[in-house]
Amino acid sequence: MTTQETTMDVTLKVWRQKGPEEPGSFVTYEAKGCTPDMSFFEALDVVNEGLVAKGEEAIAFDHDCREGICGTCCMTVNGQPHGPDQAATGCQLHMRTYKNGDTITLEPFRARAFPVVKDLVVDRSALDRVMAAGGFVSVNTGGAGEANAILIPKDKAEAAMDAAACIGCGACVAACPNASAMLFVSAKVSQFALLPQGQPERDRRVLAMQKQMDAEGFGNCSNEAECEAVCPKEIKLTNIARLNREFIRAIFWSHELHPRSEAEGQE
Ligand code: SF4
Ligand code: FES
Repeated sequence: MTTQETTMDVTLKVWRQKGPEEPGSFVTYEAKGCTPDMSFFEALDVVNEGLVAKGEEAIAFDHDCREGICGTCCMTVNGQPHGPDQAATGCQLHMRTYKNGDTITLEPFRARAFPVVKDLVVDRSALDRVMAAGGFVSVNTGGAGEANAILIPKDKAEAAMDAAACIGCGACVAACPNASAMLFVSAKVSQFALLPQGQPERDRRVLAMQKQMDAEGFGNCSNEAECEAVCPKEIKLTNIARLNREFIRAIFWSHELHPRSEAEGQE
């Protein structure tokens, strides 16, 4: 690989907003002397160092791992959550994606359930509350030995692992014209619905998560498929189909919604 020696200057149009109740607007900054191999966030760091040196307030943006793992780096780059790269988070974006002289627009994720905290930072705790409603296994499922004794078909294990890859970034919500959280919720429901350990709380889980999702102000799915297109972990729409099946199954079979005798309850 040859070393890229050229540098590039880009113009950033950044959404600045002091607080949740404050009006926001775009402010233009010049990011000069970036190298193509710099991560996009490193370029933002350089801009922020310049702002701080001038006594101005740094641009607030969320990030933690910077390795595509934690899911915190939510921002909209030129209208696309996480930017233009397929199957990548915002922190995995590099300056080589752009050309010298480009103008890049940065906005927070836009969704009713994700209120702006400051600049590019939004409050995504609505996703945590959906998880707290039922996205866990609370029954005693035994130790590692028991887990290995239960045979799981390979296709089911792989589909559960694929669903579990969701990092809860919320890009699916930001990309959806309805600000729906169906892809996120479907991934979290699927990772349990496909495995034996998820069965005891299967109905209660999907009913509670769906209810909380609606309470948080997320919209419904209208099959736009924008969520799948922007998802950095390539979570598939087939999970939404499974979520819908799980929900309908729970409506008809939930023991809590339809108490019945033990003998009738055997499936
Ligand atoms: S489904 Fe994809 S886009 Fe949505 S929260 Fe999970 S990882 Fe992010
Ligand atoms: S900062 Fe962790 S995924 Fe981007």
